[in-house]
Amino acid sequence: MSMETGVTSAITAIRSLLFVPGNQPGMLDKAMGLKPDAFIPDLEDSVPADEKTNARKVTAARIAGLAAAGAKVIPRVNSMDTGIMEEDLAAVVGPDIYGVSVGKIYTADDIRKISGILSELERRAGLQDGHVKLLPWIETAMAVAHAYEVSAASPRIVGVAFGAEDFTNDMGVERTEDEQETIYARSAIGVAARAAGVLALDTPFFSFRDPDGLRANAQDAKKYGFKGKFAIHPAQIDIINETFSPSLTEIEYARRVVAAFEEAERIGRGSTSLDGKVIDVPVVKRAQALLVLAEAMGVSAGLGNSS
Ligand code: COA
Ligand code: MG
Repeated sequence: MSMETGVTSAITAIRSLLFVPGNQPGMLDKAMGLKPDAFIPDLEDSVPADEKTNARKVTAARIAGLAAAGAKVIPRVNSMDTGIMEEDLAAVVGPDIYGVSVGKIYTADDIRKISGILSELERRAGLQDGHVKLLPWIETAMAVAHAYEVSAASPRIVGVAFGAEDFTNDMGVERTEDEQETIYARSAIGVAARAAGVLALDTPFFSFRDPDGLRANAQDAKKYGFKGKFAIHPAQIDIINETFSPSLTEIEYARRVVAAFEEAERIGRGSTSLDGKVIDVPVVKRAQALLVLAEAMGVSAGLGNSS
């Protein structure tokens, strides 16, 4: 394939990110047998105040095991305004983590402060500057208003997470079934993340015994440009991975689009048609990007290879 495929190929795929309360050894050990794209051992809001120190110890002791299980390890630390973020970061920064996640970001300046702290911890741990990636939560009105500046504030950032619960709290609005109250924030974050070349990752779906509800919710997020979603329960991982992976039907169609376009080019034409639809440059770019993504995710395995 000769054509530019856009930023998709440069972005690491992270579809499912499993939260595990950082003070729960049983759940952390159980997580090691699961296959999300990332583990998020949580030191923040799933851990009660009097368990914070214990969670730090329990989590730190299991980071190597989680990494060995084959998914990226991205602990979520307490936010800057708690006064314990630095202690959390010091407990988890090391060679086995892929990155850290930080909640309740307000501005790009917050990101620069966190990045400075990480640089110092990396230096002390003998790690290369920038080794630790960053996954900030855009879940305050201020951060949504600054979504692009936050998303682009540091080369450490691989993705930004939308937190609907904290966002609606900060806005002083109710969370409703149809989620209309999140439309602007999700749109803003989807566009900002894309413009900054990072992943938009969607808020967890709390009804963990409602697979159909989760699927519909994840498909909705995908329309806003989200590339993945947090899970709070093991049963959510497969549905999330499936939703954010190209389907076999999409892959087959993309291959036919590319083949039809290559045939058109061969006979000196810049557009052609397939199944009654026009195939021109943006259409074939989309198809190529989907194939790159599918290959990166290993989804195309097992299909007859036409390229
Ligand atoms: N990670 C790892 N294992 C988990 C898990 C998770 N997030 N959620 C549940 N499990 C385990 C349970 O411990 C249980 O293990 P067992 O069979 O060995 O006892 C098994 O999966 C089935 O769990 P189930 O009984 O269906 O649910 P539960 O009542 O034990 O737990 C929650 C439900 C919501 C309390 C739990 O999923 C949870 O704490 N999730 C994380 C919440 C969180 O991190 N929130 C912060 C982000 S918003
Ligand atoms: Mg939050």
